[in-house]
Amino acid sequence: MFKPISISFAPNFEKDDTVLAIKLLLGMVSYSKLNSSMTIFQKEFSDYFGGRHVSLFSSGRAGLCYALKSLNLEHEDEVIIQAFTCVAVPDAVLWAGLKPIFADIDKQSYNFDLKDLKKKISKKTRVIIVQHTFGIPAQMDEIKAIAKKFDLYLIEDCAHSLGGMYKKEKFGTIGDLAVFSFGRDKMISCVYGGAVITNRNKIKNSLLQQEKTLVMPPISFIRQQLYYLIIYVISLPFYNIFLGKLFLWFAGKFELLSRAVYKKELYGERPSFLAYHLSPYFAPLLLQQFRKLSRFNKHRKNLSRFYIENLKLDLEPLPYIRIPVKVGDKNKVLLLAKKKGIHLGNWYRGPIDPPESNNAVFDYKKCITAEHLGEHTINLPTHINTALSDALKIVNFLKEIKYEKS
Ligand SMILES: Cc1ncc(COP(=O)(O)O)c(C=O)c1O
Repeated sequence: MFKPISISFAPNFEKDDTVLAIKLLLGMVSYSKLNSSMTIFQKEFSDYFGGRHVSLFSSGRAGLCYALKSLNLEHEDEVIIQAFTCVAVPDAVLWAGLKPIFADIDKQSYNFDLKDLKKKISKKTRVIIVQHTFGIPAQMDEIKAIAKKFDLYLIEDCAHSLGGMYKKEKFGTIGDLAVFSFGRDKMISCVYGGAVITNRNKIKNSLLQQEKTLVMPPISFIRQQLYYLIIYVISLPFYNIFLGKLFLWFAGKFELLSRAVYKKELYGERPSFLAYHLSPYFAPLLLQQFRKLSRFNKHRKNLSRFYIENLKLDLEPLPYIRIPVKVGDKNKVLLLAKKKGIHLGNWYRGPIDPPESNNAVFDYKKCITAEHLGEHTINLPTHINTALSDALKIVNFLKEIKYEKS
């Protein structure tokens, strides 16, 4: 009754996931089961992508960093990324010893503005990272042709888009490599985790070398991620009567929970988890979540269709991670919704999110559309814990305010 409608409070987890997290914390899952879950996950994920090699990492950003390192480029070579992204992306480029170059995005698709992408190519460009933002397919034919013409690697950042398609091809199978995030509010989740896939043998061998440099995470890191499921299950039913909020605040304050982005990352510094393997303790959870993917995506697509039809949005019904909607005063709309117990999303709040990120570290040059969209885009939830009745409340709320249909 006191549970808010929310886009980012443990969006992917269901009862069986919390029960599993408790069992993992209590040591009720044998080490051989942990290891076999890891092997099975890797095999099923690989099969899903037509037998591509799968390397697992502590996060999507670690995956992106090691994917770039596996290409053996020269220091300060340039990597074109799209503005309107998470700081994790330019950070990963810096950590790999390379230079992020921001290209602007298109107002409708939230993906590369092809004209600006071409403009940003220089003699030092080696890689394009394409991000299917919100699960909206990027113009892959055109981007692939650009990469081919200038002899550039093409990496697909699929943090928003596990299971989506471009024409008849799965996202992640079009570029040379693809990176996935299993972060707390991604398509599936083990709170902190990521994967890189490729079908290039040389890159695969290089990725395996990168993996050898990693260490197992400490037990404190493992506990933090597993606590996340339990703490949210306890807090959410009491969120609207303050008790839940207080409990979450304490959990954060006493570091029972990890942060999605650490302060040092806002300045391009490396977080400690960059050096970690994906822990086998997360494997049973990840495997359980992956086996729910088709149900999750069916739900995402159904809710997307509901929003699109009722709000007359100019979008195809697809399994979006979130539905972007453009409004006037974003902060005011988010606050108004919050007062009604509806916590909508703010991806992204600018060309590099969070806005506290130090743009100078990333040598960010103005991308006008990304900045505009950062000021005016809110997001609607499509995750499995959003009921149709919640979506109806969101639709009714939005109908009372002004929003753009395209
Ligand atoms: C577009 C995009 N790519 C990559 C990442 C990095 O994923 P992770 O949080 O697992 O490091 C994020 C993160 O939040 C993201 O939004």
